Amino acid sequence: MEPVHAAIIYYSATGTVHALAQAAAEGAEQAGADVRLRKVAESAPPEAVDARPEWARHVRDTAGVAEAGLADLDWADVVLFGTPTRFGNVAAQLKAFVDATGPLWLRGALADKVYSAFTASNTAHGGQEATLLALGNVFHHWGGIIVPPGYTDPVQLRSGNPYGASHVAGDGPPGEVALRAAAYQAGRAVRTAAALKAGRAA
Ligand SMILES: Cc1cc2nc3c(=O)[nH]c(=O)nc-3n(C[C@H](O)[C@H](O)[C@H](O)COP(=O)(O)O)c2cc1C
Repeated sequence: MEPVHAAIIYYSATGTVHALAQAAAEGAEQAGADVRLRKVAESAPPEAVDARPEWARHVRDTAGVAEAGLADLDWADVVLFGTPTRFGNVAAQLKAFVDATGPLWLRGALADKVYSAFTASNTAHGGQEATLLALGNVFHHWGGIIVPPGYTDPVQLRSGNPYGASHVAGDGPPGEVALRAAAYQAGRAVRTAAALKAGRAA
């Protein structure tokens, strides 16, 4: 059977969600998927980016990461979205990408794929779950198959977020547990997509 196609589509201003996305890409690869790691386009004005050195640095550091397009969504059997929390919600940059998917939605191309999401916030109670659940609204509209990590692996008991991998950026960059949780989540989503793909091919 053709390998599962996994797209990891994320937005990150200062690198936290990017690190989780990389870990998710590795987890998906280890689970046997063909992986596309894609950032969404930056829509903030250059003066806003340049006003924060860590933001400008991250934009420079990830210049080589390909930008997500609708073709990546169309190609994927499983999609993991990553976004920082913005006032308890999805970052506008990722939302802009999502809001451009109308043509795919209209022809049913977003339905029946596996979806999962991960996030970061500055504080522990800053809205990680609200952000992940907000992305879940989109997956419902698309007719997606939502595969959350739950508490299905020991790493989940340590990371503590059954809705999706997450990290408190105020504590520093993601450490071993958060990265392992992102990799685990992606692997679980890929394994679910593989079972569906095999079943549909049978
Ligand atoms: C406009 C804005 C809104 C934010 N809102 C929240 C929030 O509601 N809760 C929170 O804990 N952190 C909030 N943050 C902090 C970001 O979530 C945090 O910097 C981000 O998760 C880091 O991810 P990144 O390094 O991938 O950009 C906000 C940051 C910005 C710029």
